[in-house]
Amino acid sequence: MIKLENIRKSFGEKVVLQDVTAEMEAGKTNLIIGASGSGKTVLMKCMVGLVKPDSGRVLYNGQDFTAMNDKEKKGIRQEIGMLFQGSALFDSMTVEQNVMFPLDMFSMGNYKEKQKRVAECLDRVNLSDAAKKFPAEISGGMKKRVGIARAIVLNPKYLFCDEPNSGLDPQTSLVIDKLISELTKEFNITTVINTHDMNTVMESGDHIIYMYQGLKQWEGTNKEIVFAKDEKLNDFIFASEFLRDAKEMRQMEMFQDQNWRSKLPANKKEDPGTGA
Ligand SMILES: Nc1ncnc2c1ncn2[C@@H]1O[C@H](COP(=O)(O)OP(=O)(O)OP(=O)(O)O)[C@@H](O)[C@H]1O
Ligand SMILES: [Mg+2]
Repeated sequence: MIKLENIRKSFGEKVVLQDVTAEMEAGKTNLIIGASGSGKTVLMKCMVGLVKPDSGRVLYNGQDFTAMNDKEKKGIRQEIGMLFQGSALFDSMTVEQNVMFPLDMFSMGNYKEKQKRVAECLDRVNLSDAAKKFPAEISGGMKKRVGIARAIVLNPKYLFCDEPNSGLDPQTSLVIDKLISELTKEFNITTVINTHDMNTVMESGDHIIYMYQGLKQWEGTNKEIVFAKDEKLNDFIFASEFLRDAKEMRQMEMFQDQNWRSKLPANKKEDPGTGA
């Protein structure tokens, strides 16, 4: 689990993060959503140590990452997998060599063991047939899957993905989301995803943090989001008439589901059809 405590960050006069406190839970896809410039990437960079917060703490399983020396930080970094925006593959290396790269950097095993691990990971993302190809020879969705294989090759405890669906069609995006969700549950990874993608929010939002101008404005699940009253969140998520209609339909469905209804807080049990 990763805990953020009172994270603040400014660049010069510009305040980018204002006192953010949150928990990223293990075995869940923790989503950070919010408009462009709301501070999602800077928050993620604070978590992995690429940006130093002005104040506040980042705790990995109770250990204060922000107070660690370089050697201790390296220990945590070895447990982190990252999927970068645009995949960031090495163009001159084959798919297989790209996935091998972190093993060569950090792992002690012999070549045969490393090769076996690379084959396992490529199989897991359904890319065994593309092992010998170069990035220029494969599609954007395949590149993301290579990125995922590379991010999980060292068995990370923590997985960070910044906009994993950027540039992908909706169907390929769903494949990527499903893969990340499955891996998260299978290996009990603490996964943090920055996203703009509403399909991701609705399908994989176990835990959603909505950022607004550097503040955590709202927090909840994809089930709670359809009943959320926060105006800024609603304007952001349900921006079009089509999505507002979809929200109402989802509310009706959930309202009819007695199991879900019994879990709603008392003030949200009113019939959504009455304009609540
Ligand atoms: N190194 C930096 N120096 C100065 N300002 C920065 C730096 N990094 C980020 N910022 C500013 O911090 C703010 C938040 O940026 P951030 O990249 O976190 O936004 P974001 O929510 O990830 O947006 P997007 O959805 O477009 O990726 C922006 O105003 C940006 O200009
Ligand atoms: Mg960003």
